[in-house]
Parts: sequence; C-alpha cells; structure tokens
Amino acid sequence: MKNLRIMSVFGTRPEAIKMAPLVQELARRDGIDSLCCVTAQHRQMLDSVLEVFHVTPDYDLDIMTPRQTLSTITSKCLLGMEEAIKAMEPDMILVHGDTSTTFAGALAAFYHQIPVGHVEAGLRTYDKYSPYPEEMNRKLVSSIADLYFCPTVANRDNLSREAIEKGVFVTGNTVIDALKTTVRAEYVFATPELNDLDYVNRKVCLVTCHRRENYGKPMEQIMLALRQIAEENQDVDLVYPVHLSPVVQEAAEKYLRGAPRVHLIAPLPADEMHNLMARSYMVLTDSGGLQEEAPALGKPVLVLRRETERPEAVAAGTVRLAGVVQDDIVTMATRLIRDKAAYETMAKAVNPYGDGNACARIADAILWHFGRGEAPAPFGGD
Ligand code: UD1
Ligand code: UDP
Repeated sequence: MKNLRIMSVFGTRPEAIKMAPLVQELARRDGIDSLCCVTAQHRQMLDSVLEVFHVTPDYDLDIMTPRQTLSTITSKCLLGMEEAIKAMEPDMILVHGDTSTTFAGALAAFYHQIPVGHVEAGLRTYDKYSPYPEEMNRKLVSSIADLYFCPTVANRDNLSREAIEKGVFVTGNTVIDALKTTVRAEYVFATPELNDLDYVNRKVCLVTCHRRENYGKPMEQIMLALRQIAEENQDVDLVYPVHLSPVVQEAAEKYLRGAPRVHLIAPLPADEMHNLMARSYMVLTDSGGLQEEAPALGKPVLVLRRETERPEAVAAGTVRLAGVVQDDIVTMATRLIRDKAAYETMAKAVNPYGDGNACARIADAILWHFGRGEAPAPFGGD
C-alpha cells in the first residue's frame, strides 16, 4: 500500500511550536510520509522554533515582509501554496489554529480538492473582531475542514452547535506535547540575563503582548500598567521578550524602556521561554499559547484582553481576564503580588488543555480517516 502523504502547513511561531511535535509523530508512523511546508509568515521567530525542534521544512514559501498586511499575507500564501501542492502532491493538508497562514492554507487545499485536517479546532469567542482576524479565520477553516482536532470537549461542543459533527476528535492541545519535551528542572539558559535573575527571592513575572486588536489605545494602557506595576513593587522583575512586530517594538520602547525592574529582551527560543515560564512567579499576557502553557506549569495568568476563547483554565481558577484598562490590570496584578492567599489560590497546576498525547491521537485519527486503523479514544475520556 502506498504511503499517505500528509503535509503540515504553518508559518508563525505558535503554529510551529504546536505543529513541530505532530510533524515528528507523523514521521514516526508506518504508512505516512510526513511533509512540512512553511509559509514563513514569521521568518526569524519561525526559524528559531524549527531549530529548537529539529524540523527541516520540505517547502518554504518565505513570504514575510516588514509590516505585512492581512491581505498580503493571505494572497502570498494562497499563491505559494499552489506551487507547494503541485510539487508535494499531498493526500491531506494539516493546518493549525487561526492565523492568516491557517486560513490561506485551508483555502488552497480546498481549491485543489485536498482534504483538510484542522489542528486546534473549535475555539470561539463569537466576536468576529476579537481576536482579529483570528476568530473569523477559525470559522472559515471550520467550513472547509474534513477532520477537526479539538483540544477540549468544550471546543467540540462549539462545533456541534454549528452542526459540525462528522470527523470531530477531542485530542488535547499539541502545545502540552511540546511543553513536555522542553521543560527541564536542571535547565541552564543560553540567554545570560535569564541566569542572572533571582527566581527564589524575587517575583519574576513573565510578560508578552502582541495582538492586533490591542494595537493603539489598549496596548498603551497595557504598557502603562506594566510600568506602574514595576515602579510600585520593588520585589518584582518584569521580563518581557518583545515580539518582532514593529508596532509592538515601538510601543514597548516608548512606554517601557528605562522603567525600573523591566527587562525588555529579544524573543526567546521556545525552550528558553518554556523554562523561564516554569521558573516565573506569574504571567501577564495576551497570547493564546501562554494561556495554555502556564496553567500546566502551575503559574497564575492575567490575560490582557477583554475576552478569551480558552475558558477552561479560567474555570479551573488559574487564569483571570484582566482586560485592557490600566487601573484594572494594576489592581489585579498588585493583589497577586502582595496577597499570598490570593496567589496560592491561583497557583495550581491544571491541565485542561492536554495530557501530552495529542499528536498520537491526531495521527491515529488521520490513519482512521484513510481506513488504516482504529479511531483514537478522546482526551478527557468523554
Ligand atoms: C501573527 C498572527 C497571530 C498570532 C501571532 C503569533 C495573523 C494575522 N496573525 O500575528 O494570530 O497570534 O502571529 O505571534 O496571522 N516580524 C518579524 N519577524 C518575525 C515575525 C514577525 O520581523 O519573525 C514582524 C514583521 O514586520 C511582520 C510583523 O512582525 O510584518 C507582523 O507579523 P504578522 O505575522 O503579520 O502578525 P503577528 O502580530 O505576528
Ligand atoms: N514564545 C516563545 N518565545 C517568546 C514568546 C513566546 O517561544 O519570546 C512561545 C510561547 O511559549 C508559546 C508561543 O510562543 O508557545 C505563543 O506565541 P505567540 O504569543 O506569539 O502567539 P499566540 O499563541 O498568541 O498565537
């Protein structure tokens, strides 16, 4: 029997972190040729992940330009994917999550009548402008996909409400698979500044912020809040690896450069980031991935957004929505810094997003789809 050609398509840092373990799992399976096509919607931040996880793309569209717009990303991906599909002749295309690469990758697959597997399917906020453009990308990919790999039961239920019932699997999130390979108790940072921080006697808080819907006033409010938190708490260090987006770089420079106890650093390789998170006191972020990783590591998270498509850890009590208003963020962060009981209530390790076996379930489901094996048992046992 001919091997199945399964092509994973991704382009940004978070997609790469969450797809790398799957590319590797598929490569280990008999009967599958695991192919990897990167759009390079991100260049440096993508390459860093590929290096950490030892993934070599078979095809690289190399589309990134400075200050790229949604239209340029989408059109360049769509055109590039045509060439990639012709060259690679995949039997199935896997896309991840909700980026412009995800949407264009799925659309290109559809145009070539190639089945699509959607990894991290079923997340919703029901607000088409928040997160923007991700919420719409998710919905559009849901209309195109043939297989849906939902991290949680709640994600599956979201799809069910949209009458998507066939080909849906609850697998857990592959980010937990990735995290299991990177976090080590004896880890020594390659970034010297991170080895110099006192994680025992000081409160090292990890910060990230990059979302498009936060550009402008919300990002200004977030940065001012971070500055105030650092100024008012002598025992706190804020470590902020700043995303390479020029919009974000400019905001961080303007509002945070020179603030006491604020460490603005370059984006970290994924293994450095995960081990920093494991050693930190808490996380302040508008990132999707960090909302999934930090709970698994027992770190309280304040989400710098108005809503979240990841309510599971909020329900579990380790994540809280802090919003995008300076005073609200400062109030919530100050409580976690000064009130030990409030902190302890949130600082518990929970794993609503996965058990580290998501990639194995996805590989099983793909083989099942092609009549070559049993369907996997769902994550969470439901
Ligand atoms: C993208 C995704 C977002 C995801 C985020 C993860 C879309 C529309 N947005 O947003 O869903 O949460 O990635 O980080 O798909 N840049 C570099 N080097 C890099 C990466 C980015 O210089 O390695 C700069 C470029 O100037 C680029 C800009 O950042 O034009 C923005 O990148 P882009 O992918 O358009 O948007 P993100 O905000 O990163
Ligand atoms: N990350 C990283 N280095 C950094 C910042 C983030 O490796 O400097 C990782 C983080 O641990 C998570 C992922 O990148 O796995 C999240 O990416 P990002 O916040 O850019 O995107 P989102 O998850 O919001 O789409």
